[in-house]
Amino acid sequence: MTSNKDQDLQRSDFGADFLWGCATSSYQIEGAVHEGGRVESIWDRFCTQPGKIRDGSSGAVACDHYHRWPQDLDMLKDMGANAYRFSIAWPRIYGDGKTPNEEGIAFYEKLVDGLLERGIEPWITLYHWDLPQVLQEQGGWAVRSTVNAYLEYVDLMTRRLGSRVRHWITHNEPWCTAMHGYWDGMHAPGMKDFRTAVQCSHNVLASHGLALPIIRRNVPDARVGIALSLHPTYAASDSAEDKAAAQRHDGLRNRWYLDPLYGKGYPADTLALMGADAPKMEAGDLEAIARKTDFVGLNYYFPEVIADAPGHGPLHGRIVHPEGVERTAFGWQVAPEGLTDLLVRIRRDYGAQEVYVTENGSSYEDVPGPDGTVQDPQRLSYLQRHLAAMREAMRQGVPVKGYFAWSLLDNFEWAEGYIRRFGLAYVDFATQQRTLKQSGQWYRALLKGTR
Ligand code: FCB
Repeated sequence: MTSNKDQDLQRSDFGADFLWGCATSSYQIEGAVHEGGRVESIWDRFCTQPGKIRDGSSGAVACDHYHRWPQDLDMLKDMGANAYRFSIAWPRIYGDGKTPNEEGIAFYEKLVDGLLERGIEPWITLYHWDLPQVLQEQGGWAVRSTVNAYLEYVDLMTRRLGSRVRHWITHNEPWCTAMHGYWDGMHAPGMKDFRTAVQCSHNVLASHGLALPIIRRNVPDARVGIALSLHPTYAASDSAEDKAAAQRHDGLRNRWYLDPLYGKGYPADTLALMGADAPKMEAGDLEAIARKTDFVGLNYYFPEVIADAPGHGPLHGRIVHPEGVERTAFGWQVAPEGLTDLLVRIRRDYGAQEVYVTENGSSYEDVPGPDGTVQDPQRLSYLQRHLAAMREAMRQGVPVKGYFAWSLLDNFEWAEGYIRRFGLAYVDFATQQRTLKQSGQWYRALLKGTR
């Protein structure tokens, strides 16, 4: 491989203590939805509704990771990873919504032990979108009782795994939980109401803040944070109108989460736009949300370009899709410099002390060739250029401490079903055979220092 093409990347560029891993989530890989006492999640339910999932599929089998986890952890180890980010399926933990399900807990105990045996640090995401359906029936994230149920669940899991797991992520992408789940309805539970979505975003953030002391109490030397989906937001033109629209969009997309987490409260401009849709809070919520975390997780995929559009939605703006830019097979714009921009911003505007790229990756549809290998040059290039962009942010002084590629495996990509393949390993869903793609081989060589 020529040095120009792979940006001269070396593992040592990132420091000896840097964490290198992959990320996954429970509903996207586990399958076995009726096993081990697992109960229905909002995604099981959502997938039964016609038209919600592009290929009509569900996560019922997915990568069958529930049964194949030893092999998957072997692959991670062979890759040279020293960390693995995965999520716990809340519906495996409580059968009836109240009583702990030992079989479900045991699955994660085995998984954690399996990681530790292989010298891989477990990074647990406590909520990656698979809410128990029974809680949805009571109102889901729109109601405060779900916050309380979450705190009980967090208390249980951190007590059970706290002696073995130091790194905890309270939530994955609260924007998506709230806005895709309750505003545009693209994700479970598929509601379409802005005011409810805003309330959910607050409840999720409140649950994060209220969980922090619980986790610290249960986990010696806990390292706790949250993973946010952030998007660099650019104006469609130099006009004052488009610039203002981009600023409004940035408010709801990015600052709505970063500002309160870093003690600034909700952004005043976004609150003003919301008017009566602003969330109801309880006393102490903002203080709880502002509690100190140990790191912030950044999930980065693509930037957004915004044009002014009076009367269009609560933000009076529209996402535009510039022509002639590089895109993945999913249509997401490829912009590695956006990763540098975001990392620099988190440091500059919020003073973040420790940052992890908790997700980053691309979807292309490459399949095995006649020789059985999977050549995915575009994903490889995406990976290399984003690692170089991360290195650039580090050169500018941003304390980035780890990188988790999304994803270890091709998996169930939510509303897109199995159409979108993000894996460093190809999964043949008929046979469940895994094949490390060219990009995965390169990542392995980087991590092992053999390139
Ligand atoms: C993120 C999600 C993750 C995966 C990637 C492609 O928004 O956190 O589960 O679907 O996008």
